[in-house]
Amino acid sequence: MAMIEIKDVFAGYGIGPDILTGLSLNVVAGRSYCIVGPNGAGKSTLLKVICGQLPPRSGSVMFNGQDLAGLRTDEVLERGICFVPQDRSLFTDMTIRENLQMGGYILKDSAEIDRRIEGVLEMFPVLKSRLGLAAKTLSGGQQQQLLIGRALVLRPKVIMLDEPTLGLAPKISRQIFDSMNELKAAGIAIIVVEQNARMGLNFADWGCVLDLGRMVFEGPSQDVLSDERIEQLYLGRKRQTEAAS
Ligand SMILES: Nc1ncnc2c1ncn2[C@@H]1O[C@H](COP(=O)(O)OP(=O)(O)O)[C@@H](O)[C@H]1O
Ligand SMILES: [Mg+2]
Repeated sequence: MAMIEIKDVFAGYGIGPDILTGLSLNVVAGRSYCIVGPNGAGKSTLLKVICGQLPPRSGSVMFNGQDLAGLRTDEVLERGICFVPQDRSLFTDMTIRENLQMGGYILKDSAEIDRRIEGVLEMFPVLKSRLGLAAKTLSGGQQQQLLIGRALVLRPKVIMLDEPTLGLAPKISRQIFDSMNELKAAGIAIIVVEQNARMGLNFADWGCVLDLGRMVFEGPSQDVLSDERIEQLYLGRKRQTEAAS
């Protein structure tokens, strides 16, 4: 049974047009999903709808059989759905430890938050040695790891990442994917929107191609990767250049 059931969702901003135009997707616990598609397809909008930032105009988002309609983002978060947005929204003047503590603010029990931070640091040793430094002293890749670590303090069931490797060098991007592989191994479902479609699809179990606000193709990632029509339309023709990089 699906953990998140998105059914025929229409959504948009203000009085603007529908950006999601009848989108459906089932998210199974522990499975990883990569969402690809052209700019403006509605990928970020979909993540905003799931986490409660943007209420759908129609259709439904169910989580373990419960409709998420009308819940605030913090209430969605409490149920175990974490969103790491694209804008790297760290508290850059605060220390790394303080940023991790902010991740657990809804827990209120500070001893419990500290215990969980210890667990997160085992996954991200690079943060451990820098706990007392301001977040702004971290490199782009380390900041992305801190964002993921901050989300993990809540022990989410699902973590959604919007273009986590944007602007990062290939080597650092691979480190971010290594971190995501650890999340996968920990049984957390992952929904990642990724510009580097091949890298994202090679990581994920399930691939979703979004265009014009709806799902135009989904299936096991390897099927998406090997579909010639999808490749031509959405993945670009890049095999050689990628192999060379
Ligand atoms: N806050 C917003 N207000 C109005 N329009 C928006 C907003 N955010 C995104 N859009 C519009 O929604 C469409 C889809 O955006 P988005 O979901 O960010 O696409 P993607 O992530 O696939 O590139 C775009 O046309 C964009 O201009
Ligand atoms: Mg986007």
